[in-house]
Amino acid sequence: MARNVVEVKSTGHSWDGIEEYDHPLPRWWLWTFYATIIWSVGYVLAYPAIPLINSATQGLLGHSVRSEVAGEIQRFEEANAPIATRLASVELEQIGQDPELLNYASNAGGAIFRTFCAQCHGSGAQGSSGYPNLLDNEWLWGGTMEEIHTTVLHGIRDPLDPDTRYSEMPRFGTDQMLDDQQIDQVVHHVLAISGNPHDAALAAEGEVIFVDNCSACHMEDGTGDQFQGAPDLTDAVWLYGADGQADPATIRRIVHDGPFGVMPSWTDRLTESEIRAVATYVHGLGGGE
Ligand code: HEC
Ligand code: HEC
Repeated sequence: MARNVVEVKSTGHSWDGIEEYDHPLPRWWLWTFYATIIWSVGYVLAYPAIPLINSATQGLLGHSVRSEVAGEIQRFEEANAPIATRLASVELEQIGQDPELLNYASNAGGAIFRTFCAQCHGSGAQGSSGYPNLLDNEWLWGGTMEEIHTTVLHGIRDPLDPDTRYSEMPRFGTDQMLDDQQIDQVVHHVLAISGNPHDAALAAEGEVIFVDNCSACHMEDGTGDQFQGAPDLTDAVWLYGADGQADPATIRRIVHDGPFGVMPSWTDRLTESEIRAVATYVHGLGGGE
């Protein structure tokens, strides 16, 4: 069978005896190629495309991922607006009695907690030295909805909020109200009333110092006073301490230098419904009264 030899034109280029044929590109390929060029011109005009110094060309369709996200957020907020308004307007005690409201508040409150509170109180609300654990039944300022709401709304010792919760433990050493020996004695009294290892002789002297200097806030028996945010010193829960344990060196430092725990006020940063949501969440963590 004879091969059907086709005469093919050459471009005339030849290199080392290899010639370049002059095959035309297939039509379908060419048209597809032209179509993509036209498409790209349209795309550049319609969508953000050419990078400029600070942003890119905007595109005629005004498409932007950022505005899409903003739109989504707005859609959710609008959908939640009625329940958020209801949350902000009912009596505080009613929130716990309305399952729908409670469910919404706890979920929204959990998200707010993880965004604004976890840095200080820990993601599980377990706290750390100086930052109270919010899971337990021990409250500095009180664990009812009303009290938690007030704490979050106005903060504690926040100089920017005139309604902030305020009390100040004196700096007994720094301000020379007690000398080093008296501080040692009262520290041992605190260790004694909280059931920790102590020196009985020092503790006995310390009891008198405690009644004279500390009982106005911590009460004569050391059980504390929530009106002043003064912690119970007889329990096993320590705001300041090593891993929540009584630590003589830390107690000494607190008595010498004075603690000054600050919790920010949220009045200007969260809406009333957000504050109520996060208060509901904290109240529901297990220690709410
Ligand atoms: C900058 C750190 C910081 C942030 C942020 C913060 N807190 Fe606090 N919070 C504290 C400190 C410190 C205290 C203890 C103050 C004291 O010594 O009385 C406290 C105390 C509290 C108390 C009182 C606990 C008690 O035993 O009475 C509650 C309730 C509370 N915070 C909730 C919140 C919530 C809810 C948020 C988020 C909206 C938040 N905190 C954000 C530092 C913070
Ligand atoms: C004017 C009120 C006031 C007086 C007086 C006072 N305290 Fe306090 N004390 C507080 C407050 C409020 C806190 C916690 C608040 C903070 O973080 O600033 C505290 C915290 C403490 C703590 C830390 C407790 C913990 O859980 O880690 C110890 C210990 C303590 N006081 C001991 C004493 C002793 C001892 C005296 C007397 C020599 C005394 N306090 C006098 C108000 C007072």
